[in-house]
Amino acid sequence: MQELKSRYPILAQAKAHTHIDTETYDAMYQQSIEQPDVFWAEQAEKFLDWYQPWDSVSNVDLKSAEIKWFSGGKLNVSYNCIDRHLATKANDIAIIWEGDDPSEDQKITYQQLHDHVCRFANLLKQRGVKKGDRVCIYMPMIPEVGYAMLACARIGAVHSVVFGGFSTESIRARIVDADCQVVITADESLRGGRVIPLKANVDAAIAECPNVHSVIVVQRTGGDVDWNEQVDVNYQQAVAELPAVCEPEVMDAEDPLFILYTSGSTGTPKGVLHTCGGYSLYAAMTHKYVFDYKEGEIYWCTADAGWITGHSYIFYGPLANGATTLVFEGVPTYPDAGRFWQVCEKHKVNIFYTAPTAIRALMSLGDELVNQSDLSSLRLLGTVGEPINPEAWHWYYEIVGKSNCPIVDTWWQTETGGILITSLPGAVDMKPGAAGKPFFGVKPALFDKDGNTLEGENQGLLVMTGSWPGQLRSVYGNHERFYETYLSQYPGNYFTGDGAKRDADGFYWITGRVDDVLNVSGHRLGTAEIESALVLHPAVAEAAVVGYPHEVKGQGVYAYVTLMNNATESGALNQELIEFVAKELGRFAKPDYIQWAPGLPKTRSGKIMRRILRKIAENDLGTLGDTSTLADPAVVDNLIENRIVHG
Ligand code: WTA
Repeated sequence: MQELKSRYPILAQAKAHTHIDTETYDAMYQQSIEQPDVFWAEQAEKFLDWYQPWDSVSNVDLKSAEIKWFSGGKLNVSYNCIDRHLATKANDIAIIWEGDDPSEDQKITYQQLHDHVCRFANLLKQRGVKKGDRVCIYMPMIPEVGYAMLACARIGAVHSVVFGGFSTESIRARIVDADCQVVITADESLRGGRVIPLKANVDAAIAECPNVHSVIVVQRTGGDVDWNEQVDVNYQQAVAELPAVCEPEVMDAEDPLFILYTSGSTGTPKGVLHTCGGYSLYAAMTHKYVFDYKEGEIYWCTADAGWITGHSYIFYGPLANGATTLVFEGVPTYPDAGRFWQVCEKHKVNIFYTAPTAIRALMSLGDELVNQSDLSSLRLLGTVGEPINPEAWHWYYEIVGKSNCPIVDTWWQTETGGILITSLPGAVDMKPGAAGKPFFGVKPALFDKDGNTLEGENQGLLVMTGSWPGQLRSVYGNHERFYETYLSQYPGNYFTGDGAKRDADGFYWITGRVDDVLNVSGHRLGTAEIESALVLHPAVAEAAVVGYPHEVKGQGVYAYVTLMNNATESGALNQELIEFVAKELGRFAKPDYIQWAPGLPKTRSGKIMRRILRKIAENDLGTLGDTSTLADPAVVDNLIENRIVHG
């Protein structure tokens, strides 16, 4: 650590004309902790426009799972992201859209964004959507995904965006859980030249969702789709006849803004619930300070709108700040692996935010693809989703950033709404591999298993000892599960599910999940979800899934499968099961390896000992630990003997 620190003594500040310096950070952080209500009231006035002020700034009791920020305050998030900018920025670019095919792009001004969103909102109203209703959005990365989200926010509907890579069963489960009656989709999506049949996936999903009465279909490719006049609505035709004016609904700060499903260690994905006031304040404020965003800059976050990063840092944060945000439909490797850098050059991107997995994949292809593009517009780089290994960090810093752009390594979660731990350009040093220090108002701590606080330089479980405005408020439809999952372990504290180290300078280094959640290419996957998908196959009796370190993806998926008596092990069945998971959950969840397991290591009470399965998948046999408590220790020998040794 020390050595790296001296190599980058403070920051690469050459091009970071920053909002805050170290002294300002220290003073602001201090105030945010000592007088949180004063601090957050000031920020809420600075960052958002309110119809009516709040009754109380914070009303939080983590022990009883009651979290309220700015309640009684009235605002509308779409107004804050659009209308209030019109007086000065009507003709400024809100969204730059870059298509999958490099010859396709589009620029949308704030005025045009306003008109699109109002028309879309009017269409939703026409289909009977009212304040509080849930709307499912299953879309490609086209501007209309943003219009759809903001149209919901405008009329007070609660959106539930489902990642376009999810397949039928995942869409169905999410529609049912939130009881969405309207779905917004596109005919097809395009990614890396590949066509994905979104509308057909929705059709299959809603066959079992009797409450869905409308499917709004944006024409993206013009491809052939089945059409049901009763249910399907052609977006382009419908909005052409609707007015470009729609009064924003006056919302309470604590009214829900959206639900976003995420994987946990047990059961089905949880509908993480975020509300209007605190979430949008936190997204806007972190966007400005962490990315050091300045008026007129071009900002690009490469995430998908289907994940929290897309919500907070493609749409809500940047648009609340009146920024120009780039929406990219494609993939980093199409038409070739220089695409990210070509897009940076083409649109003169100043701030670039991506995932370590993408950096590692591109790094492995060499520097030439980067050097072919003029990246002189870049002045700040960011990463999110998983720890970045120092080698990838250095490549990003030196080859992409030309040793001239600070890197912000941002640690956060779907549940946190926005960035909680990060370096801050100008204020907090960069250390390759360390997430950094807490953002304003954020109180991290390290606990041991029993909930004792670990002081100073230490390693333990990462918790937050207080609330912040962007914190999730509940799990949709299941407040008990919210409490159980996050607040019950260490009463009065929020448990992140991550482990971390804190160094002598107070920097946090995230060590990864401590529960059964995998992080595959920055995508969160519950081992339980993949197991449930596998056992749906008629040949499978039982399955256990673990992660193993993967050079590019961060973690790979390794599944142990016990077959039914009447099924026979074969290469063809192995492949079939892998494809089966892709069909059930989505391609990104495919197991990398399936090992046949005549038996699984279980305790006498029947609990699968994943620790052992992980070690075998990692080919780390020296430290298998005590296997004597197993019901049948012999199964371990079989698994070791037949393990798949990977490179
Ligand atoms: C991991 C994504 C290390 C972490 C915003 C967390 C990270 C999970 C980082 C949340 C980072 C995210 N360094 N690990 N900078 N950022 N993580 O909900 O394990 O998709 O708990 O939110 O990703 O994933 P989620």
